[in-house]
Amino acid sequence: MEVFCGKKSDEVLDYLLKRRSANAQDLHAPGPNDEELERILAAASRVPDHGKLVPWYFIVFHGVWSEQVGTKLAEIYKAENPQASEERVQLETTRFSRSPVVVAVISRMRRGNKPMWEQILSAGAACQTLSLAAHASGFGASWITEWYGYHPEFKAYLDLDERDHVAGFIHIGKPGAVPEDRPRPPLDTIFTNWREGAALHKGDAQFDQDKFGFPETGFDVSGLNKTK
Ligand SMILES: Cc1cc2nc3c(=O)[nH]c(=O)nc-3n(C[C@H](O)[C@H](O)[C@H](O)COP(=O)(O)O)c2cc1C
Repeated sequence: MEVFCGKKSDEVLDYLLKRRSANAQDLHAPGPNDEELERILAAASRVPDHGKLVPWYFIVFHGVWSEQVGTKLAEIYKAENPQASEERVQLETTRFSRSPVVVAVISRMRRGNKPMWEQILSAGAACQTLSLAAHASGFGASWITEWYGYHPEFKAYLDLDERDHVAGFIHIGKPGAVPEDRPRPPLDTIFTNWREGAALHKGDAQFDQDKFGFPETGFDVSGLNKTK
């Protein structure tokens, strides 16, 4: 197999510069067939991975099993929201079956000596590569997590354990409408040419304080550097 590194491709670059997620509510049949899906997953499994830990795996939802999962989701939602409207419960029922294929990318912590943070990053890379590969195969893709990506009962139903986290549910199908673009961060707010003493453009003024009123410091991120 020929391996690419540093091969010029204006098409790929142009695509990356114009990439947009599809709308998860607007992805229709046909989804990728088995062969296409296998290629999409193979692309996702080539992401950088410090320590070769393979700290992720994929669960594919399609057909009747997407409906089955939706039934479970609606059951959990209804139990926690007894006042929920029929319409809302119906929405929960169709969360997975509304797209022809959904791939859950699960971040799984391995025991090696590499920081958890790096293992999580690798799972994020798998999500994005999977989405890009789906696009390059002629489909739209949408990376979501929603409330159920964090719900203990739903995670247990899927057979996830304490080492597993939902990095994303990637919905794949033929997009109805191509969504309008959205504003992207001005590059000069998020990059700095390094020199000693330079004030780094960290985007704080635009993306912390103005938007959310966050202080500049005060996050506890210490846990992410732990190796185990
Ligand atoms: C980890 C992660 C989880 C996300 N979860 C959701 C979600 O649950 N619902 C949602 O509407 N968008 C979610 N998004 C955002 C969409 O994937 C997408 O980025 C957004 O709709 C903007 O579209 P764009 O990718 O074209 O800029 C998530 C993104 C990431 C990286």
